[in-house]
Amino acid sequence: MEAPVYTALAERWQDQAGLARLAERAERRLREHPHGDLTRWRDALSRLPPVEPSADLDRPDPRLGATAPDLQGLGETLMDLHPWRKGPLVLGGIRIDTEWRSDWKWERVTPYIDLGGARVLDIGCGNGYFGLRMLGAGAELVVGVDPTLLFVMQYLVCRHFGGDLPNYVLPLGIEDLPEGLGGWDAVFSMGVLYHRRNPMRHLRRLRRLLKTGGTLVLETLVLPISRPGDLLVPDGRYARMRNVWAIPGTDRLLGWVNEAGFENARLVDMRPTTTSEQRSTPWMTFESLEQALEPGDGSRTIEGLPAPVRAVIVATA
Ligand SMILES: C[S@@+](CC[C@H](N)C(=O)[O-])C[C@H]1O[C@@H](n2cnc3c(N)ncnc32)[C@H](O)[C@@H]1O
Repeated sequence: MEAPVYTALAERWQDQAGLARLAERAERRLREHPHGDLTRWRDALSRLPPVEPSADLDRPDPRLGATAPDLQGLGETLMDLHPWRKGPLVLGGIRIDTEWRSDWKWERVTPYIDLGGARVLDIGCGNGYFGLRMLGAGAELVVGVDPTLLFVMQYLVCRHFGGDLPNYVLPLGIEDLPEGLGGWDAVFSMGVLYHRRNPMRHLRRLRRLLKTGGTLVLETLVLPISRPGDLLVPDGRYARMRNVWAIPGTDRLLGWVNEAGFENARLVDMRPTTTSEQRSTPWMTFESLEQALEPGDGSRTIEGLPAPVRAVIVATA
């Protein structure tokens, strides 16, 4: 029987009644998840060296844990949790050069939100990299949800090296959040909206999770300015991804955000994703963005659609 992971979560915010229920739900999902690789991943976790936990977070590559005595052995263990997508991270002295330069995304977002003392919910948080950056920027508590179990396993590695930080990654989707779980100071939804079949429902849910006056940070795929029309509904794959449902123009996207009950919605960043920001590395050896673009034409995906452009919108609930 594994030690519980989420028991301290409810104590971190005592008058948030939904949190205890959420922690129980997450604990149960972790225990009962049917994923075929779970035993192998658990085995990797059990081989992590018992180093002194520590956390140096206010940096592009958060450093967790003292340097392990056997770096080669640790590197091999961490590779058992491949692919590492969000980072960079330094774990037990090993620098993990992840598929994404998530620090670049963070640099685009952080000027627009003051996280001092904030309680933050991060929908689709991956391995919790951004949660570490949020703590580094002064957040009091970060709760992330992500249904992809491998990313939760990677979070457990971070927790092993970083200790019991107020940054959590729960193996749940947005649809698993209990209705009463409102009142967050900030809600992040980065890289998730285009995966949702009903984007308006997603945005309305984000609104209900926030306190009045709270901040939404929304990052998603949008159409490039040059593309006529205001909504792309891919007929099949988009940049090799199977589950991309809708890519709006920025005006349409801002309209959705307003319609969902937000005020002061503003586009603070918009740029194409480059093959320097998302690429294969020794820690993510599968194909990446380069193989999803038309050879010799970086402006189109291999399906002939506009290449990925991402926008950041900040709005007030
Ligand atoms: C493109 S990644 C973005 C990760 C990170 N937020 C970022 O911006 O780099 C999308 C993430 O959303 C997660 N996801 C998929 N469906 C979800 C759902 N229903 N609720 C919450 N997260 C979901 C995926 O597992 C994945 O980690």
